[in-house]
Amino acid sequence: MDKITVVGAGHVGATAAQRIAERELAREVVLVDILEGVPQGKALDQWESAPVEGFDTMVTGAQGYEETAGSGVYVITAGLARKPGMSRDDLVQKNTAIISSVAEQIARYSPDSIIVMVTNPLDVMAYVAKAVTGFPRERVLGMAGILDTARFRSFIAMELGVSVEDIQALVLGGHGDSMVPIVSTVSVGGIPLTQLMSEDRIEALVNRTRKGGGEIVKLLGTGSAYYAPSSGAVQMVEAIARDKKRVLPCAAWLEGEYGLDGLFLGVPCKIGAGGLEAVLEVELSGGETEALGASAEAVRGTMELVQL
Ligand code: NAI
Ligand code: 2OP
Repeated sequence: MDKITVVGAGHVGATAAQRIAERELAREVVLVDILEGVPQGKALDQWESAPVEGFDTMVTGAQGYEETAGSGVYVITAGLARKPGMSRDDLVQKNTAIISSVAEQIARYSPDSIIVMVTNPLDVMAYVAKAVTGFPRERVLGMAGILDTARFRSFIAMELGVSVEDIQALVLGGHGDSMVPIVSTVSVGGIPLTQLMSEDRIEALVNRTRKGGGEIVKLLGTGSAYYAPSSGAVQMVEAIARDKKRVLPCAAWLEGEYGLDGLFLGVPCKIGAGGLEAVLEVELSGGETEALGASAEAVRGTMELVQL
């Protein structure tokens, strides 16, 4: 891929740009922010690490979008982060205005690009980007499920004292307290988790996963998580840039899958050069279907706050 743009040169955006460059997922990474000098400064600093880290992906910074023209992927992290005590949904009004203006520029300068949304409230900001750009659902995705799943997997690994690499898990639904971990799909080296951990302990880890974002916010005091979130976004970018056909939990615009229609929600997706190449449907228990429905309702409630 020639060019990947990361919009928002804050914690998540700058870390994502660095990871994209270090993995050489494109010839150039452009970091965009409204702050004067900041994207240029961070980009130059990252590029100056290239001789030591050994990557050739050029990193540049910009205030505008002309420099981003022809990007294959845009990772959008622009906006406000949650502060302690602030819910994700509180962010909706301010971030809708920001994402609308970013989306307009993307549609103008790179009409064939794929968007990976990160800004919160995630599922709703993905909707704003889709509505404003008019892009088909294949080219607008949201990152949350990878992060939520990674948190769940890391907690399981800590508890069992085993490698994170051997833990597979799936977390569906909206990014928020209503996320739906699908415990029946969790395995440790192929062994169902339910055979290795008591129901009580699984429930405790599910709860910690649900509140994973808040746990980091509380510890940091200011700002929110960015190392794991940027890893999640870059895993999606890599799947697109390298046409990996990965099966990853991402926020996708649903058109009847899981009995739901007309909203973004976290579901297993096949991700490749075309962006969203398929939504995969997992068989859910009655309780899980109900929880996914409740999660969809929570997302719809926030969508109703959006004025485009
Ligand atoms: P941050 O505050 O460090 O960075 C945000 C950046 O966006 C700032 O540099 C700001 O100047 C910039 N910005 C604001 N308006 C802009 C505009 N119109 N155009 C370009 N840039 C603009 O925040 P951080 O920690 O990087 O988080 C970014 C967003 O990602 C937040 O909404 C946060 O809640 C969300 N997030 C989502 C996660 C997920 O799982 N989907 C996980 C972690 C964060
Ligand atoms: C998180 O889950 C704040 O959404 C962000 O860390």
